[in-house]
Amino acid sequence: IYLLTTQKKLFGKRVLITAGPTRERIDAVRFITNASSGKMGYALATVAKRMGATVYLVSGPTHLKPPYFVDEFVSVESSEEMFNEVMKRYDDVDIVIMNAAVGDYKPKETFSGKLKKTEKELTLHLERTRDILEELGKRKKHQFLVGFAAEVEDFEKNALEKLKRKNLDLIVLNDARKAFSSERVEVFIYNREGLIKRIDEDDKTRVAGGILDIVSDIVGGSSR
Ligand code: CTP
Ligand code: CA
Repeated sequence: IYLLTTQKKLFGKRVLITAGPTRERIDAVRFITNASSGKMGYALATVAKRMGATVYLVSGPTHLKPPYFVDEFVSVESSEEMFNEVMKRYDDVDIVIMNAAVGDYKPKETFSGKLKKTEKELTLHLERTRDILEELGKRKKHQFLVGFAAEVEDFEKNALEKLKRKNLDLIVLNDARKAFSSERVEVFIYNREGLIKRIDEDDKTRVAGGILDIVSDIVGGSSR
């Protein structure tokens, strides 16, 4: 009975999850990216599915196998592609969990061929990417918005600042130096009032379960 009622806590809910890093192209064979493994996002997708949700996973490039069980798997490369694929689905979902480590900057121009090493020095000009989550916050209607904050200092202050600036319902704070490529993670979950839950260091599937438990407690969902 316990399993039946807790496992399907997201029954009837449509959840959009983003995962992994993005790649911003410099030329035909080079790009700027980050160390995100995608594991946390894929774990969230797995557990959300287990809890009965309809799951759309939008993923940057990872070494993980695309999960066969999600309702839709969308593979993207750049932050711009991720932006478009997320926006396309936004009206049709109840919950968005923005776990992807979206690149903050992209090359101002992408060279179509392969850059030759003709010069002694090369300067790359970068420009800001669009903030997907901030845009979701601006366009928020019925959706429940969950962001992540990858910090290295002033943890709580920065996380709360992002929560407010991006108009989020929850933000999951982790230590960027530890979380990115590791198997285990410790997180702190905040709402507008402050800390609501600390999840001690554990493997990412269990932590995903802890996060989704809180989300489902707030958003509800019929248990079937
Ligand atoms: N995010 C996003 N689009 C971006 C950058 C970030 O949607 N272009 C989302 C991330 O998926 C995450 C949240 O915003 O859920 C916070 O990301 P983070 O990198 O911690 O914060 P930034 O707002 O990018 O600020 P900074 O990196 O300077 O701390
Ligand atoms: Ca960032």
